[in-house]
Amino acid sequence: MEKAHKLQKASQLIAGTTDLPTIPIIATKVLELLEKPDVELDEVADLILTDQVMAARVIKIVNSPLYRTAQEISSVKRALVFLGFRHIRELALTCSFLEAFQGKDGVFDIRTFWEHSFGVGVVSKLIAQRARYHDVEKAYLAGITHDIGEVFFSYNMQHDFQKVLDEIKGRPHKLVETEERYFGTTHCEVGELIAQSWNFPPQYQEVIAHHHAPENATLEPTLVAIVNLADLFCSVRQLGYEGSEWVSFNLAEEGAWGILKNFAPHMRNLDVERFCYELDDKVSDIRELVKSVFEGMEV
Ligand SMILES: [Fe+2]
Ligand SMILES: [Fe+2]
Repeated sequence: MEKAHKLQKASQLIAGTTDLPTIPIIATKVLELLEKPDVELDEVADLILTDQVMAARVIKIVNSPLYRTAQEISSVKRALVFLGFRHIRELALTCSFLEAFQGKDGVFDIRTFWEHSFGVGVVSKLIAQRARYHDVEKAYLAGITHDIGEVFFSYNMQHDFQKVLDEIKGRPHKLVETEERYFGTTHCEVGELIAQSWNFPPQYQEVIAHHHAPENATLEPTLVAIVNLADLFCSVRQLGYEGSEWVSFNLAEEGAWGILKNFAPHMRNLDVERFCYELDDKVSDIRELVKSVFEGMEV
């Protein structure tokens, strides 16, 4: 089906719901503040402290295995000193996503969704580092946000989405193709429209729109290719939620791999098997992170 048709269908579905997730205003403010060249650390800390939920999550995430602090960090200000400004951007957005989607009942377990999202974020960052991509935090964020369209289906189209998940479980059916059959659109188009309504930067919108077909990307194909590969890695490394135990992939045949090698010819020499082992080491960290973020919190 044509992309334009799928977008039209997605906008009809979204128009039919009244409770589209919103991104907390505080997150937009943090992002704006961090764009200012002369921003003071105290200003950012004060802003974060006005939102107790975000303040608590910043402390939890900074103390999670992902950041490996030497000692426990217990204040927002110390967390910011430890992380540095670039990472605050990543943390502020991460917290906002958690907030935007919490407190609802969806078809899939939201923790599994976050394990997948954080997993793709972390792996995107690792691939970006290997490829010497200029903005590894952006790769991480793009990874975290790539599947936001799934959340819409899970919450707002529960009945049919359950059927979609049942149908692909343990079978070699692709999620996007099954979604298209049921909804006439996929989580890529739905996510793209949600990202637009949140005023996300265009490169993030592009990743959300094309992460299953990176060859269609025009703005920043390398970023889309990185997230696509991270998604594939996570699916075969038990960080998927799509019932995709059957998935396997041959890197050499992936369009994204071609795009990445064009961008970074040294990637030809990547020892894929070893890289997969490195990723395996991260899986328990990611599970631990998701657990620590959700612990004691209403989700
Ligand atoms: Fe996806
Ligand atoms: Fe995904």
